[in-house]
Amino acid sequence: MNETTKSSNTVWHHATVTRARREALNGHKSVILWFTGLSGAGKSTLAHAVEEKLHQLGCRTFVLDGDNVRHGLCGDLGFSAQDREENIRRVGEMAKLFIEAGEIVLTAFISPFRSDRAKVRGLVPHGDFLEVYCHCPLDICEQRDVKGLYRRARAGEIKDFTGISSPYETPENPELVVNTSRYNLEECVDQVLSLLRERTIIPA
Ligand code: ADX
Repeated sequence: MNETTKSSNTVWHHATVTRARREALNGHKSVILWFTGLSGAGKSTLAHAVEEKLHQLGCRTFVLDGDNVRHGLCGDLGFSAQDREENIRRVGEMAKLFIEAGEIVLTAFISPFRSDRAKVRGLVPHGDFLEVYCHCPLDICEQRDVKGLYRRARAGEIKDFTGISSPYETPENPELVVNTSRYNLEECVDQVLSLLRERTIIPA
C-alpha cells in the first residue's frame, strides 16, 4: 500500500491470465517506453510513429499522450510542480496496468522532474521502464512553437511554462537519447526500434 491509498479492507485478486501468458500470446514482451522532453521536442510525434511501426510488425501497443490524458483522467490538474507530480503518478500507475495487460505502452509527457520519473521507474520490475529522452534545444522548440505556447509563455500569458518559467531536469541515465533536431523522424524511429530489439522486447 502506498501513502496515497485511502481504501482499506481491499484484497488483491490474482488473475489466472498472467502477463507472461499474454506476452506469449502476443509474441513480444511488454514494456513502458517513457518519452520525456520539452514541449515541442517531438515526444508525441515520435511515440506515434514508433507505435505505427510496431503495429505494422504485429505488436500490441498503446500511446498515452500528455495533451490527451489532460482532457480526461488528469483534467483536474494544472502545471504546478505538485500537479505535474500527480499527473505523472497517475500515468505511471496506468502504464503499469498496460504492461500487466501485455502491451508495449508508449508515454509522451514532458515529465520534467527526475524524482517523478524515478518513481515510475520504481513501480515496475527492473528493465520494464525504458526512458527515452527526446533531446531538442529550447531555442529550436521555441522556433518551431507548433502550438504557439512558447510565444504566449514569453508574453507572460501562461505561467509555469517548462523551459521558460518552470524547470526541465535533463535525464541523467536514460536508456536512449534521441536527438530530434539532428535526425529525421524515420531515423529517430529506427533508434527506438533498435533499443527494443537490443532489449529483446521484440524479436530481432
Ligand atoms: S507534465 O509536465 O505534467 O508532464 P504534460 O506532458 O502532461 O506535462 O503536458 C504538457 C502539454 O501541456 C504541453 O505539450 C503543452 O501543450 C501543454 N501546456 C499547457 N500549459 C503548459 C505549461 N505551463 N507547461 C508546459 N506545458 C503546458
